[in-house]
Amino acid sequence: MFDFVDGAAGAEVGEGLNRSAIREIRLQPRVLVNVEGRSLKRRFLGQDMGLPFGIAPMGMCNLTWPGADNMLAAEAMRRGIPVGLSTAASTSLEHMHAMAPGRAWFQLYVAQSRQAAMRLVDRAEASGYEVLILTVDVPQVSRRIRDLRNGFQIPFRMGARQFFDFAFHPRWSIGTLLHGAPKVANFEAEQDGKGFTRGESRGSTDWAFLDELRMRWTGKLVVKGVLSPDDAVRIRDAGADAVYVSDHGARQLDATPAAIHALPRIRAAVGPDYPLIFDSGLRSGEDIVKALALGADFVMLGRPLLYAIGADGARGLSTLVDVLADDISVTLAQIGLKRVEDIDSRVLVNAPAELPTGAELPTDGGKDAKPAPAARMVEG
Ligand SMILES: Cc1cc2nc3c(=O)[nH]c(=O)nc-3n(C[C@H](O)[C@H](O)[C@H](O)COP(=O)(O)O)c2cc1C
Repeated sequence: MFDFVDGAAGAEVGEGLNRSAIREIRLQPRVLVNVEGRSLKRRFLGQDMGLPFGIAPMGMCNLTWPGADNMLAAEAMRRGIPVGLSTAASTSLEHMHAMAPGRAWFQLYVAQSRQAAMRLVDRAEASGYEVLILTVDVPQVSRRIRDLRNGFQIPFRMGARQFFDFAFHPRWSIGTLLHGAPKVANFEAEQDGKGFTRGESRGSTDWAFLDELRMRWTGKLVVKGVLSPDDAVRIRDAGADAVYVSDHGARQLDATPAAIHALPRIRAAVGPDYPLIFDSGLRSGEDIVKALALGADFVMLGRPLLYAIGADGARGLSTLVDVLADDISVTLAQIGLKRVEDIDSRVLVNAPAELPTGAELPTDGGKDAKPAPAARMVEG
């Protein structure tokens, strides 16, 4: 189960690259700024967020710890942050919405058939979801070597190796059995002649489907798994409310560019005001500040939250969120800012050429301005 969470595509070079690229980014310390009373709040997609990061949609979280999805939902409610609920989750979308009303965002895969996908969309609407994330970077589930070696598959198959693994981890095994072995909870058991298998193609998700979905879904629509500026512009023009820049934590294409390198290019392409979400490789509050400086309006975390749950259940999750929030706050103080909303490319030591420099950033709060640029905080 650890390998399923921690692993990535192929030789896992892309996953290491995601993190090393973020590590190389440097922030500019500023001094003698009054940074008392800092705020981590942020408004995004019409919602007030308690923190600038949320919980990425992840399938089969309950494998990590019995009731993991309930813990994620409770944490999202407590902190005022979004929690993604994957089509491949082990909790039904109706149940998740009931646990995290207004905070749960439904993530759609087009598996089984387009008709089945649209039925999921209708269920999401009927349950009261306000935000739908269409994930487009899994036309086919990639080869993950660790999963192959471990014989990990969904639906689950028990062999000798799994039997011994379970026997050597009794706390997890008994807890999981008592709670009911996790299963995919949103796929229709036998729809259009097909049940769900994880490796099945999702390759029919195309531009025509995006248009169809945009017509059907009246809530906010986010498209996840975008790395090309051209794709991002076309998605914006197709009427999506936000682009979610991500390489799926390098779980799909090992040869992916570091996702963080795509972010400023996409920001430059879609313009200063278009909503962008980012994930892939963020591991600390400093990392989150870096992504916001490189053009993200909001970020998501994946694996770290499941590591925390795997280590210490709900308490582990809460502790990690505290640590990340503290880390962001301390980082703000170091770079001379009071509010996450004030972060822009001027906090970077070497801002990428695509992003406007401090001199070019609007300071008059006009329509195209990003809110409250850093220099005003520093000088004022
Ligand atoms: C165990 C696991 C399951 C995932 N399942 C999904 C999924 O069902 N749908 C989806 O859009 N992304 C899925 N992702 C990708 C995450 O949403 C996110 O893009 C990625 O984890 C971010 O990278 P990070 O783990 O380095 O933070 C999954 C990630 C993990 C670790």
